[in-house]
Amino acid sequence: MTSEISLSTVPAHTRHGSNIGQPLTRRDGVLKVTGAATYAADNHPEGMLFAVMATSSIARGRVVALDVDAAKAHPGVVDVMTPAHKPELAMDPDAKTNPFMFRLDLLQNDLVRYAHQPIAVVVARSLEAATEGAALLAPRYEEEPARVGLDADESFEPAAIGIGSPARIERGDVEAALARAEHRLEATYETPAQYHNAMEPHAIVAAWDGDTLSIDTPSQGLAMAQGRLAGLFGIAPENIHIRSPFLGGGFGSKGLVSGPQVLGIMAAKLVGRPVKLVLRRDQMYGPVGHRPPTRQTLRLGFDGEGKLSALHHHAKTVSSTFDDFFEPAADISHTLYAAPAILTSHEAVRADIGTPLFMRAPGEATGSIALEGAIDEAAFACGMDPLAFRLKNYAEVEPISGKPFSSKALRECYRQGAERFGWSRRTIEPRKMRDENGYLVGWGMGTATFPALMFQAEARAVLRRDGSGVMETGAHDMGQGAWTALAQIAADALGLDLDRTEFRAGTSDLPDAGIAGGSAHTATAGMAIHNAGADVVAKLAALATGDERSPLFGAGNAGVVAREGRLHRRDDESRSEGYGDILARAGLAQIEGKGSAAPDPSVQETYAMHAHGAVFAEVKVDPDLGQVRATRLVGAFAAGRVINPRMVRSQFYGGMIWGISFALHEHAVMDRRSGRILNADLAEYHIPVNADVPSLDALMIEEHDPHVNALGIKGVGEIGITGSAGAVANAVWHATGVRVRHFPIGLDDLL
Ligand code: MOS
Repeated sequence: MTSEISLSTVPAHTRHGSNIGQPLTRRDGVLKVTGAATYAADNHPEGMLFAVMATSSIARGRVVALDVDAAKAHPGVVDVMTPAHKPELAMDPDAKTNPFMFRLDLLQNDLVRYAHQPIAVVVARSLEAATEGAALLAPRYEEEPARVGLDADESFEPAAIGIGSPARIERGDVEAALARAEHRLEATYETPAQYHNAMEPHAIVAAWDGDTLSIDTPSQGLAMAQGRLAGLFGIAPENIHIRSPFLGGGFGSKGLVSGPQVLGIMAAKLVGRPVKLVLRRDQMYGPVGHRPPTRQTLRLGFDGEGKLSALHHHAKTVSSTFDDFFEPAADISHTLYAAPAILTSHEAVRADIGTPLFMRAPGEATGSIALEGAIDEAAFACGMDPLAFRLKNYAEVEPISGKPFSSKALRECYRQGAERFGWSRRTIEPRKMRDENGYLVGWGMGTATFPALMFQAEARAVLRRDGSGVMETGAHDMGQGAWTALAQIAADALGLDLDRTEFRAGTSDLPDAGIAGGSAHTATAGMAIHNAGADVVAKLAALATGDERSPLFGAGNAGVVAREGRLHRRDDESRSEGYGDILARAGLAQIEGKGSAAPDPSVQETYAMHAHGAVFAEVKVDPDLGQVRATRLVGAFAAGRVINPRMVRSQFYGGMIWGISFALHEHAVMDRRSGRILNADLAEYHIPVNADVPSLDALMIEEHDPHVNALGIKGVGEIGITGSAGAVANAVWHATGVRVRHFPIGLDDLL
């Protein structure tokens, strides 16, 4: 892995002001490696008790008996929360008034809807006592057979998929185009259920003071969490104080408040003391979301020169019996290849499983491995190099909408990535390359893409007479480095050095920074910060330029520039005045500004906005044992402006490793009789370790986007997984000549 980052490796286009574009190390790094960073479960308020959930061992039925007396007889147990004994809620946990309000299991009745559903909560003076108390409940069930998997029940077309897009979209006439096509290819790919497995499990420490609630809990969306909890408990959102300075990973599973987090708050209310509730690892395989399995059929029509005429991407997926998250797996085919006729369609079944949820690149991750596989198959059917095939079908406008791209440096990603990888030395035929030890060598590629999204956010800026500044927004650092990258934007927005800029984030008492999801947090919170800085600087400039005692008198707002704590005249940079002097003369201790960010509907109507990339992978396969090793990956990504190249590169690495994981390691194995996940722990739920990732390279391709937002940021959190999974799978085919269409690819598939 290349890990050194120096200023000379920072592309010039990323520089903006003096802080944006710098490869700074994370500001929270020392806190984290020394253990000084306090995660939610590290907070132990006075008098705190410990809660442990009892969770269902069946997937469908009802709880007919719980031995509450036995649990209560335990000397350390304080109380047992059950459907019959719990605080009243102000709202039915099964009510849903918007698509982001997911139904929760809060002990509302004795029904069991999935394995590991919470069925009781034991509160005790120690974690051990609570754990023993939960075991003493010895639940008895009336069990019904679990409906599991992609064939659980009759399928249907969902009313909406993902975050509300139509399940079926067609441009042109796909059936007619397929009928006319010189070549047709149909391939069905299956992807397994996957679980987020953040290092930090969902956890909460909750304390009530009358109608005021203080909680420590990891959250990717503080304001949404506040709103959801306000509804459930019937209190004002401003009476809810959430601290979430550090998350040990989220990946989408902490985007919305989960049932267990609410149960912790209910338990605290029940016993009238602060309560801590932390999920055990196996309890994360039920109530906190997952990536559902998919079965995807690709139908491609193309001519002998490799030109696509039709593309049908159909995806079947699974949701729960009681809520409506549907993985939008086929939607990636809207964007990537210029087929004149495109149809994307979705169907789903309902199974006895916890409701699936957004998991890093929801839709794009699952859809990409299938689409990139089918494209690889089509290229070989034409006897073409897979890169040449992709270039032949390069989309100059967004295929599904016909809109121009706000920017698209994908050609450059292909070119630079292929060159760095050495792609031109690849054989077209599979099973033709060997290394010095006789291992089969395969080279594969995939195209990466992810939409450039933006949500709504607000920020507050302060400049002080002592020459320092403050920027506040309730942003979330899931580990991606938001605390650092957003502080860089803040320092430039305030015209201050970073060490004069105090950046406050991670609590719900600050302005709403929007949800940290959809790879949109830097763009969203960053634009609010940028605008708040512009607002406070404009106010300061007005003080100076309107005052004849200032050297800036008469320059006008547009006539000054903020830099290193001073305002300078644009027409004569030697004439400047420090912030402190301006404020002192005006008799002010500080001056305040506000900013907000929101997607611009007119830009959205005009342009298709996506980040792009190209990933090239090498695998080596033992010809006798079928064991696969991903030996080398090169990704080249164009995602607009890079705020901090060190952190952006880490995001690409993380995504690419997730791609290796998707292709070769990761899956949740379900026991079809019980509906339980059998490998619900980090020992048996395989994800890559360092030995599985010998060499990664991520190139940042220059891309200036004048449309996405004023800072030109597209987002880098999720794109790395797309393209990478397909590249690895295609490399396995190229090594072995065996096309495996289900994942992860195992050695038994190759023998
Ligand atoms: Mo992401 S799945 O938007 O946290």
